[in-house]
Amino acid sequence: MTKYKIGYTTGVFDLFHIGHLNLLRRAKEQCDYLIVGVSSDELVSYKNKRAVIPFVERIQIVQAIKYVDEAVPQYNMDKMEAWKKYQFNAIFVGDDWKNTERWNRFEQEFAKIGVDIVYFPYTRNISSTLLNETLLKLRAEK
Ligand code: CTP
Repeated sequence: MTKYKIGYTTGVFDLFHIGHLNLLRRAKEQCDYLIVGVSSDELVSYKNKRAVIPFVERIQIVQAIKYVDEAVPQYNMDKMEAWKKYQFNAIFVGDDWKNTERWNRFEQEFAKIGVDIVYFPYTRNISSTLLNETLLKLRAEK
């Protein structure tokens, strides 16, 4: 039996990699139904970043992962708005976010309604940023 009925996690999931897969696998181990919010291209640019892979492709890739029950678009960073919509019992996130001002605030807000925030160990030595930098370097060497 899993610990939670509905679990929720979010991300850009650009250049899908093993860190993403580890997070989704661990999340699904703890819930019956895993909903994954995939950041829209507009939300990514708002954070002063840019995804290499467009949203319509990123969400299809996430939806195809066997640990994912439902992939949904994430248009803003308001997790409480997402909760009103999806009524999840826990949020899963990499521990690169632990002790940040934003997630400390989420912890307080969600504790009031009995929603747990669960941090998983961030997979070392891989990120979308690192992959993209590597690709750019490879191209430049040509
Ligand atoms: N994540 C992880 N381990 C990694 C990369 C990401 O556990 N090596 C987790 C993040 O903590 C987050 C989720 O995967 O909960 C989605 O992260 P995302 O921002 O899409 O991936 P990154 O590769 O970290 O992207 P960037 O380099 O742009 O920050």
